[in-house]
Amino acid sequence: MSDRADASESTNGNEAADLTLSRRRFGLAVLAGAALSAMAGELTLSRADSPAAPTESTTLDAGDAAAFAEGVSDKFAKDARVFVVRKGKTLSALSATCTHKKNLLKLKDGQIRCPAHGSRFESDGKCSSGPAKEDLPHYAVSIDAKGHLIVDKSKLLKAGDAGTTVDLK
Ligand code: FES
Repeated sequence: MSDRADASESTNGNEAADLTLSRRRFGLAVLAGAALSAMAGELTLSRADSPAAPTESTTLDAGDAAAFAEGVSDKFAKDARVFVVRKGKTLSALSATCTHKKNLLKLKDGQIRCPAHGSRFESDGKCSSGPAKEDLPHYAVSIDAKGHLIVDKSKLLKAGDAGTTVDLK
């Protein structure tokens, strides 16, 4: 065989080796794709089989309505973001989320304050000091057959709207 033929054979040998490698890579890529596809299918199935993610309850049973003392209660502020307000025999519920940038409001010295930027709100939800500009929303309240205060957080209401106060008997 001539040098040229050897070179040609050698080149062909390298091409064959390259082709074999390419086929191996292709095969591995197909297997990897199939494995990923199977995993994705399994993830989809497991998501479909799993129970629905818990959703935040929109109704708060605040317990014995008559037990609330005069003024603002922060008993449910942290967990349910609700302030319960008692004025005489009338109860109402306010959002405990600041209308400025949605920080959790705190009760300090009987006044509703925002620890983030200093906004203040009256016990009727009125914004008395900024930077917040909007008043706190009210929630619908009712008293059930057991005498418990029920706060319906599904609707944001304004002070004076129907259902924002309930009277103790
Ligand atoms: S988040 Fe309450 S004042 Fe800014």
